[in-house]
Amino acid sequence: MSGFGVPAGGVTGQRRPPGAAELATSSREELVELGSALDGVTIAHREDQFPVPGTRAEKRTERKVTRWFIVAALAGLGFLAAYLFWPYEYAPPGSSGSQHLLYQLYTPIIGVLLGMSVFAVGGGTIAYAKLLLPHEAAVQERHIGGSAELDRVTTSAILADAGASIGLGRRSLIKRAAGLGAAVTSAGLGVFALGGLIRNPWKGGNHAALWVTPWASDNGEPVFLRYDSEQLRLARPEDLAAGSIATVFPYKRSWSEQQAHDAMHASDSPVMLIRLRPEQAAQVVQRKGQVDFHYGDFYAYSKICTHLGCPASLYEAQDARLLCPCHQSQFDMLEYAKPIFGPATRALPQLHIDVNDEGYFYARGDFIEPVGPAFWERRS
Ligand code: FES
Repeated sequence: MSGFGVPAGGVTGQRRPPGAAELATSSREELVELGSALDGVTIAHREDQFPVPGTRAEKRTERKVTRWFIVAALAGLGFLAAYLFWPYEYAPPGSSGSQHLLYQLYTPIIGVLLGMSVFAVGGGTIAYAKLLLPHEAAVQERHIGGSAELDRVTTSAILADAGASIGLGRRSLIKRAAGLGAAVTSAGLGVFALGGLIRNPWKGGNHAALWVTPWASDNGEPVFLRYDSEQLRLARPEDLAAGSIATVFPYKRSWSEQQAHDAMHASDSPVMLIRLRPEQAAQVVQRKGQVDFHYGDFYAYSKICTHLGCPASLYEAQDARLLCPCHQSQFDMLEYAKPIFGPATRALPQLHIDVNDEGYFYARGDFIEPVGPAFWERRS
């Protein structure tokens, strides 16, 4: 029987419920006992893991739990530092120093640190529950209908008692470590969510990376079309047979070896130089404003698919169609590379090409629209 004379295992209706005055003067333990009985809960077994507070064994266990939260805090701090200060900008293979390696490590580093932080918070919570909470087995009978005022009052007492039972109040070391771990991990998640909105991809204005490619030339120096070869080889009209294509990259004579290397490996550099068959060239529909962008039967288009940026270079010479292998977008090379099948919705940007006095192809300027997948701020 409980302190209120309510038999454990359920009872509403077997006894007059205690009045407001009786409830107001009841201790928390009595209310817990009453609430359990009213809920039909029977505590079959309850054992405190550390009945005597402050023993060395308890302190040792507390330190074990604390270590989890310290790891969570350190990993969270590491994540924040890496996310904010790691050199994340793209650096092509072979870049000076270890820039490329640092760039490659960025995503794994922030992933591992954030994962460690969340994992350690979870580990600490589980360790606390397993090592410090009382072992308890309770049985509850189910009943139908909503809860009465009496039940609500006693449930509050039970929750307050649970808070006191888990002993977080007197375990300040764990409380502080858990607070630190959870705060740092949450800060990391917050920065992760907001970071993309804070970084400004347009900080270069009209020279921001999304507007300009290595085909641009500020000083009027010609940007030649070169092949991907060990030795420098500039493209010339006689290199391509009718109905064939070649991938070319930008090259300026004033560039250092490193600059030439970087331009070769920039994601927006690759261009397809296509030589149409004469009968196909006769049917070509030019894009408005770009009628002189080609040189005879030669057309140059960005190789970067306007859907999601895969290299689109499977050329079907018979139909003059270009296929992107990623999601099967097809582009019609007889109609300014406009998409005719698949998820891509924009034509491939065309490069304005010409041939100089020495017989080499060069670009008469950068692309007049952004290369690759669409984005909100795109102007064309
Ligand atoms: S990236 Fe080319 S079709 Fe999707």
